[in-house]
Amino acid sequence: MLRVEQGMSRGRAVFRCSFQPAELSEQQFQDVSRTVHRLCGIHLSRKKKALVQARLAKRIRKLGIAGFDEYFDLIHSRQGARELGCMVDALTTNKTSFFREAAHFDFLTEKILPALEKTRIRFWSAACSSGQEPVSMAIATREHLPGINNRDVRILATDISVQMLAKARQGRYPACEMDGLPPAIRRRYFRPVAGQEDAQQIFSVRPEIRAMIHYAQLNLMHPWPMQGPFDVIFCRNVMIYFKRETQQQLIDRFWDYLVPGGYLFVGHSEGLSGISHQFRYICPATYRK
Ligand SMILES: C[S@@+](CC[C@H](N)C(=O)[O-])C[C@H]1O[C@@H](n2cnc3c(N)ncnc32)[C@H](O)[C@@H]1O
Repeated sequence: MLRVEQGMSRGRAVFRCSFQPAELSEQQFQDVSRTVHRLCGIHLSRKKKALVQARLAKRIRKLGIAGFDEYFDLIHSRQGARELGCMVDALTTNKTSFFREAAHFDFLTEKILPALEKTRIRFWSAACSSGQEPVSMAIATREHLPGINNRDVRILATDISVQMLAKARQGRYPACEMDGLPPAIRRRYFRPVAGQEDAQQIFSVRPEIRAMIHYAQLNLMHPWPMQGPFDVIFCRNVMIYFKRETQQQLIDRFWDYLVPGGYLFVGHSEGLSGISHQFRYICPATYRK
């Protein structure tokens, strides 16, 4: 559908044309909802219809195709596999930040790291988005793990989104995303990217931090190829989008992937209430095997 808006510019009437795909039908919404649930476990409730419509409309405009009918033909075609990934990306939220939910990082630095005596240490950021979570874990570890240079510390950082992982691997963040970081941490673990002085300054994560992190694509709904076990797992702000039975399966699998005494952090708005598990509750959104 072509939308024409009239406006004024320098005293003259101007017309702006934009392409608006027609409305997402109920059947199409159910189709997206089933597909997204099958692909990544995310439950899109009926309340999300307007949001789904807006985000898919954006995708349709970007692809330059005619409307929702053509879009559904594409995603159900043989050539549509790549677009399915983009559709999931468009419909998931990637919001994240450095040291998000600071209480977890306080617990990590004050209780977990000083007590870890082993040499081989493995952490997992499961659903790492654009990388701020594993980078924060690596910085916290560099700052607070005694004798870090004589230990073998690795952080696995996974996400379903290829786009987010590409950003994470780049390890470059604009100044506005680093507002909450203490200046000393900024100076020690980031450096300004040269040639960016005119626009907003971009900072890159220093090599010693990047070297601690291994990024990989992983759909949490699929089999997990890594062996583990992990000392600490962060799985924050993703389970909230899953139905109870999917959350239950994930929590059971995290149990199997943790060392005895290992820790699981979930988002503060998630918690494990309503899920049966063997973890010991330590403090909000923090559990121990
Ligand atoms: C809101 S972000 C959370 C990022 C970070 N953990 C935090 O708390 O700041 C949610 C992330 O979960 C990812 N995600 C959604 N479904 C997933 C799945 N089935 N497997 C792996 N990652 C998934 C999304 O791509 C997104 O990057």
